[in-house]
Amino acid sequence: MPTDPTAPTFDQFWADARQANWRDKSPAGQRRLDWWRDAKFGMFVHWDPSSVAGAEISWGKQFYDDTGEHYRDNPRPTPSLHGIEEHKMWLDWFKPAVPREVYDNLYRSFYPGMFDADKFVAEGKRAGMRYLVMVSKHHNGFCMWDTKFSDYNVMQTPFRRDILAEIARACAKAGLTFGIYYSQRDWHHPAYGPTRMAEYNAYMHAQIRELLEAHPNISLIFFDCEQYYPSEMWDGKELFRLIHSLRPDIIINDRCGVPADFWTPEQALGAYNLERDWESCMTFTSFWSWHGFQTPVISREQCLRNLLGCAGGGGNLLMNVGPLPTGQIDPREVDRLRYVGAWLDQHGETVYGTRAGPFPPCDYGVSTHRDRTIYVHVWQWPDGLLQLPPIPDRVRSARLFSGGDISFQQSSTGLELNISPGDRTAPITVLVLELA
Ligand code: GLC
Repeated sequence: MPTDPTAPTFDQFWADARQANWRDKSPAGQRRLDWWRDAKFGMFVHWDPSSVAGAEISWGKQFYDDTGEHYRDNPRPTPSLHGIEEHKMWLDWFKPAVPREVYDNLYRSFYPGMFDADKFVAEGKRAGMRYLVMVSKHHNGFCMWDTKFSDYNVMQTPFRRDILAEIARACAKAGLTFGIYYSQRDWHHPAYGPTRMAEYNAYMHAQIRELLEAHPNISLIFFDCEQYYPSEMWDGKELFRLIHSLRPDIIINDRCGVPADFWTPEQALGAYNLERDWESCMTFTSFWSWHGFQTPVISREQCLRNLLGCAGGGGNLLMNVGPLPTGQIDPREVDRLRYVGAWLDQHGETVYGTRAGPFPPCDYGVSTHRDRTIYVHVWQWPDGLLQLPPIPDRVRSARLFSGGDISFQQSSTGLELNISPGDRTAPITVLVLELA
């Protein structure tokens, strides 16, 4: 991303970070988001040695002596620095847990011999994704790059290659904007906990600096702790100051104790919202990391509808892949990605660079618009005419994106369109309305 000469000062950056709605932020703060608002579709990559065991990243590790209670005698993680205790719950989808002595040694057999960063990124590009956000360090503390601040990193695996750097470079080459996921939670670092947080924060800040200095194309940071962890816990203001000093035009998600640039509904489409930027992160399998081929993958059509649901709701879709321990993207996920990519090849102009509405998402589908052109994406048809709610502007013409005029009637109660079943295209029919 080119550095914006009108980028705000740190004080403005920090003031913006504490406002949730875009209209409360400075114009410069909003401009930083332009590329991301236009991009709509990104790839999330949850990958580390946990894939060797086909276990959920971080959460799949057994932290507790298995007394049947699962949360007895757990030495960590239990920081109660701000009255918050971590990891009280043990949800079914984390089970069966990988015994600690196995989990902690998975990195010793992490050798993704099929990994090729260019091919990997090319799948994202072919899917029509415009950016990629890669896990640099998940809650388990394992670092996917060559960090000088911890030995628990990818260079200690038999693979001995800086996977994050390879992906960062491949993104730059392929023209995809690059971002990192970084978990402040760290269940490996000895200082992470109630008493030595200052020491831990020094480590975390040093790693963020190291990553930003190594990769000038890091344009987005996805932190990951629930919003009720206050930013003071991470020395958030200093952290943001550091980030701003290195990358004033970066964008940051809402999981570092302040609303920052966008909020992050998880495994669900965000609600229609034109006030606040958002990005849904969703998985193919309901797991973040690879869980074997027995886990079902969502359908091609569902994946496409998720993307459109985001675009038509005012948000982005960050679609997660959980690569295999071989370094490949699960071929079932590749299949869905290529399907969406082929659809976007034809219909990209109805998604990229658009804004949501004016018709709120409904059972029929969603709408997007650019200037005076509205795109209506329909996947569920009513018995009779398609009825859309009233809008203040007069509709001058209506046609099918695939060609052919549509007869319609506009009145104070809304817009009625007559599309015969023969004109409907699977899986989605796109209508184009021009406003007078
Ligand atoms: C949650 C999970 C984490 C996952 C993240 C993705 O915070 O704890 O495992 O990486 O969501 O948004």
